[in-house]
Amino acid sequence: MIERARELVKDFEYGKEDVRKATRHFIKQMNEGLQRDGATMGQIPSYVTSVPNGTEKGLYLAVDLGGTNLRICSVHLLGNTKFSIIQSKCAIPSDLMLAKTASDLFAFLAKEIRAFLKANHNDQLKSHMIKVESGHTNQKACSDDFLRLGFTFSFAFEQHALNKGSLLYWTKGFNIPDAIGQDICGLLQTEIDNLHLPVIVAALVNDTVGTLLARSYEAPGTTMTLLGAIFGTGTNGAYVEKMQNLTKLELSDQPPPEEMILNTEWGSFDNALDVLPNTPFDSIVDSESIHPGIQMFEKRISGLYLGEILRQTILDIVPLSTTIVIPKESPLYQQFSIDTSFLSIAAGDTSPALYVTRKELLQTLDIEASHEDARAIRELVLSIGRRAARLAGVAIAGIVIKSGRLLPSPQNSIPNVGDKSSVVSTQQLLSNDRKIPEKLPKNFLERFYQWIQRTFSSCFEPKPTLMQTPSPLKVEAAGIVDIGVDGSLIEHYPDFEKIIRTTLRDIEEIGLEGEKRIRIGIAKDGSGVGAALVARMADLRTGKP
Ligand code: BGC
Repeated sequence: MIERARELVKDFEYGKEDVRKATRHFIKQMNEGLQRDGATMGQIPSYVTSVPNGTEKGLYLAVDLGGTNLRICSVHLLGNTKFSIIQSKCAIPSDLMLAKTASDLFAFLAKEIRAFLKANHNDQLKSHMIKVESGHTNQKACSDDFLRLGFTFSFAFEQHALNKGSLLYWTKGFNIPDAIGQDICGLLQTEIDNLHLPVIVAALVNDTVGTLLARSYEAPGTTMTLLGAIFGTGTNGAYVEKMQNLTKLELSDQPPPEEMILNTEWGSFDNALDVLPNTPFDSIVDSESIHPGIQMFEKRISGLYLGEILRQTILDIVPLSTTIVIPKESPLYQQFSIDTSFLSIAAGDTSPALYVTRKELLQTLDIEASHEDARAIRELVLSIGRRAARLAGVAIAGIVIKSGRLLPSPQNSIPNVGDKSSVVSTQQLLSNDRKIPEKLPKNFLERFYQWIQRTFSSCFEPKPTLMQTPSPLKVEAAGIVDIGVDGSLIEHYPDFEKIIRTTLRDIEEIGLEGEKRIRIGIAKDGSGVGAALVARMADLRTGKP
């Protein structure tokens, strides 16, 4: 069994040359997505043309519909790069992921929002309900007292305005065909209104855009964050692109904004499998998934699928074991019975005779494994996890190289990151005071708000004034390329970041020197905070102080 496992381990190797070739292909597909709609990688405009600078303030609600969990939070942006957050989280019932109608799912969201308000903002809810019951209110009249909600939606949608976006397609474990093409904010607002809640859906963001914004709000130093990436149930990234490169989008704004955050939808990179590795196990996982033929990159990286790949490989090797007896009813025969947390636990197992892995095998699969059996399975785990992290490295490398931020320029020329290249947690960040430059270049933000005002003039009432106080503009800290990440894999899988870093060093355009300049920081709760930040932007646009 161990010999067979080692043969399979070889099939999961993804060497230097593979990584280099894949990175070139990734950049090619990024470019195609910039030029035309319908390319493999969506490169979807978010219409967010600036990243926050940490001075944003206010109380906002955020709802984050992920691939596994629903999170509801209220975020108090304190305006000094810090925030306080109250949040609740629940698992999304699996029948709702495949609900008959979109309204089944969104009604569930609205009910959870009501429960959250009851638990955490009951005074506001109660006083609004009294008004509603006495017939003294209608939504428009009291909308100033309403809480603004930023909606993080972790699926591909086409953004039409800060508070409008139509669903393009479902991924991960979701499939509710009725929702495709519908306005996601509208679907949620309808259900919120049905419950008469004092909430307005003010903004819509993909989770990666939220992560980028949140990281940028709280990132240490004065670095302008380049990329927000998710390595969780699904995977994807959003980055800051120069508008001149986004040739498929024509904006009437004069002067046009210089940059925009794009949602790459990199999960669908190389769906044609020109450069991606493809073992027989990958093929089975794909053909048995609810979305066969798409999200091929995601299916080799993200949490939803790694457990499935492992399950297929275990099914392959166990017949060769002389000791394992698999009960007929073992979950090993059920799709998705191995959670990614199993991979994280097994990969990090340093217990004598792999006691921890064996205990997990018994608990999750009802399999009694010997030390030898567990060793074979752990080797498979490590090879599947390692391949995933190397592919994650390809995506990060592609974006960093494409951005040109590692190239020598007066701005980018002093590589000086020292040991800052390791993951920084939110807790650390929260206690990190940022030095704000004394000279405050203010016109960048003003330009941004002017542009937002023009772009969304059809969706909002005109805003009379621009931001009153000059805000410090974040300038790039010398030589650092800042990246915000979130998701169960990057957080819990041992050495995921370390393997990404080895991969970055394997790519000539980055190498040892470039890799040192890349700072990766966990943007924990990023998508919630990011949604609050976009809701804040929408408020500024409508003139709300
Ligand atoms: C979705 C993306 C999302 C990513 C991470 C993918 O399946 O298509 O929109 O950002 O998962 O949650």
